[in-house]
Amino acid sequence: MPATVAAVLDAIPMPLVLVDAGQRVLAANDPAAVLFGEGLVGRTAPTFLRHPAFLDGLELCLNEGGRTTARVMAATRAGETHLSVTISPFESEGAGQGALIAFEDLTAQEQAVSMRRDFVANVSHELRTPLTALVGFIDTLRGAARDDAAARDRFLGIMEREAGRMIRLVNDLLSLSRVESEERRRPDQKVEILSLLKSALVTHREQAEGAGVALTLEAAREAVWIKADGDQLTQVFYNLIENAVKYGGAGKEVKIRLTEIDHEPVLRGPAVKIEFIDRGEGIDALHLPRITERFYRVDAHRSREKGGTGLGLAIVKHIVNRHRGRLRIVSEPGKGSNFMVILPVG
Ligand SMILES: Nc1ncnc2c1ncn2[C@@H]1O[C@H](COP(=O)(O)OP(=O)(O)O)[C@@H](O)[C@H]1O
Ligand SMILES: [Mg+2]
Repeated sequence: MPATVAAVLDAIPMPLVLVDAGQRVLAANDPAAVLFGEGLVGRTAPTFLRHPAFLDGLELCLNEGGRTTARVMAATRAGETHLSVTISPFESEGAGQGALIAFEDLTAQEQAVSMRRDFVANVSHELRTPLTALVGFIDTLRGAARDDAAARDRFLGIMEREAGRMIRLVNDLLSLSRVESEERRRPDQKVEILSLLKSALVTHREQAEGAGVALTLEAAREAVWIKADGDQLTQVFYNLIENAVKYGGAGKEVKIRLTEIDHEPVLRGPAVKIEFIDRGEGIDALHLPRITERFYRVDAHRSREKGGTGLGLAIVKHIVNRHRGRLRIVSEPGKGSNFMVILPVG
C-alpha cells in the first residue's frame, strides 16, 4: 500500500477501510479501529462486519465498479450502532482494483429523531386526554344536564380543572424550550438565594396549609449571593417545593435547608446546597435514574389527578445544568425524599 494512501486515510476523521478485489483489508484508519477493533489489516470484510446489505453492496461495487451505499445495524465496540456505509471503487498502484469503505455513525442522530418522535407523541397524548374530557362535558351540558343546575356546576368545575391542566402543560413546554435554548449561555445576574427561597415559601404557604404540610426553612446565614438566573432558580424552587408538598404526605413536614460547602468534590470548588426534604412515600430506586426525563412519572394517573404535567423535574434538571450545578436525589420508599440542588459559588 503506498504510504500516501495510508496518510490520506489517517487524515480523514471518519472510519475508513480500504479492501482489495478479494475483500481483504489493505488499510484502515484509527476511527475504523475504534469501531471494529485493532488489527483489521489482512482480515476480510465479512470477519469485521457480517451484514448482508453491506456484503452485497461491497460485492456489487467490486464486480461492477459503481458506488454503493448501505444502512446497517451492527454490533460494534460502541454497542449497537446505526451505520451508513458508502462503498466506492478505488484503484491504487500495486494493489490494483479495490474498494474504499466509509462509515458514518448515525446512532446519535437516530436517537435524537426517536426522542423527538416520542416527545411529540407524549405531548399529543397529554393534550388529548383533557380535550376529550372537555368535548364530552360540552355535549353533556347541551343535552342531559341542560336543565340541571347542580350537574352544570359540577361539570363546569371539572372543565375548569382540565383547561387549567392544559394551560400548565403549555406553560411548562414553553419554559422547557426556553431553558433548553439558553442552556449554553451561563447565567450572569447576581442573585441572593435566601430571599428567593423565602418568597417561594410565601407563594406556597397556602398550598401547603391546604395539604396539611408544615413548610420550614433552615439556613445558617442571612444572605447568600451567587451568579445565577433569578427567574429560573425561582422555577426550580417552585417545582421542588410543589413536589415535596404534593408527594410528601398530608400532616407531615417539608424542610428546606440551605448549607454552604467549602469544597464540593464534583464541582471542585465552593458551593451552596439547597435541600428539599419531605417525609412522604419516597421513590423506589428503580425509578430514580429516569425521574428527570420529560413525562416520566412513578404513577401517571395520580400525577395527573394532582394536576401534574410530568415536566417539573425535567425543567429543574435543565436549569441546574445551565448553572453548572448538580441535582442529587436521595430517596427511600416509605421514608421520604431529599432533592438537593448544588450550585457553584463564584
Ligand atoms: N418529593 C417527591 N416524592 C415522591 N415522588 C416524587 C417527588 N417529586 C417527584 N416525584 C415523582 O416524580 C415524578 C415527576 O415529577 P415532576 O417532573 O415534577 O412531574 P409532576 O409533579 O407533574 O408529576 C412525579 O410524578 C412523582 O412520581
Ligand atoms: Mg412536579
